Amino acid sequence: MNENRPKLAVIGGTGNLGHALAGRWARAGYEIIIGSRSADKAAEAAAQLVTASDGTLARGLSNHEAALEADIVVVAVPFASQESILGAIADAVGDKLVVDTTVPLVPPKVARAQMPDAGSAAMTARAVLGDDTRLVSAFHNVAAHKLKQDGDVDCDVLIFGDDPADREAVVELAQAVGMRGVHCGPLANSVAAEALTSVLIGINKRYKADGAGIRITGIPGA
Ligand SMILES: NC(=O)c1ccc[n+]([C@@H]2O[C@H](COP(=O)([O-])OP(=O)(O)OC[C@H]3O[C@@H](n4cnc5c(N)ncnc54)[C@H](OP(=O)(O)O)[C@@H]3O)[C@@H](O)[C@H]2O)c1
Repeated sequence: MNENRPKLAVIGGTGNLGHALAGRWARAGYEIIIGSRSADKAAEAAAQLVTASDGTLARGLSNHEAALEADIVVVAVPFASQESILGAIADAVGDKLVVDTTVPLVPPKVARAQMPDAGSAAMTARAVLGDDTRLVSAFHNVAAHKLKQDGDVDCDVLIFGDDPADREAVVELAQAVGMRGVHCGPLANSVAAEALTSVLIGINKRYKADGAGIRITGIPGA
């Protein structure tokens, strides 16, 4: 574990995306707390993570306890549960940075962009957590199974948030999982990446692709 790195809670870290991200961050030396609606399930998921080089173990706690203990709170839960889970951890977040990964997929038509009344999942999170919460949305377009494989993942992470310093913190988290993070402006722009996930699902289906991704070209020095 690297003492200078923030302690990360991954709410929904028992699931596809959260567990894959947590695994990569653990290997990169971050202290990880898996959050779940069930502390026992969280502990089981944490035990599966490859531990940091110094043998520090990832831990599993309830979502609320995980959010209380962490420096940065990453939320990786289905859209249908986003509001209730954010509501359940809201009082534990305080002035911590929240990184929301939610994509508002509405089965069965997941290849069709369908945004919620708030405009996007990110703006839904904003409405639940309030205007004072530090909130960034990211990781919408990376397939969890790609993160589970070894090696870098061939796509960028589009990062949205109203505070450039908070976005930059998530650029570092993207680098730590082997991806390039790109500043993409305010939280309100998150709708673009969230909609792109449905586009990518359609592309995967049409071309039998194993996880199509997004690359931003033309950035000097990047
Ligand atoms: N999977 C991907 O490749 C991917 C890629 C980009 C973005 N995303 C987005 O990331 C978020 C998480 O996706 P995911 O595929 O990781 O989701 P998932 O595996 O289906 O669920 C993640 C976790 O959410 C918790 N959860 C809370 N309410 C739930 C409910 N009603 N039903 C099922 N699980 C519930 C569960 O944890 P506990 O039971 O432990 O509480 C579960 O392990 C979604 O918003 C998704 O759109 C996913």
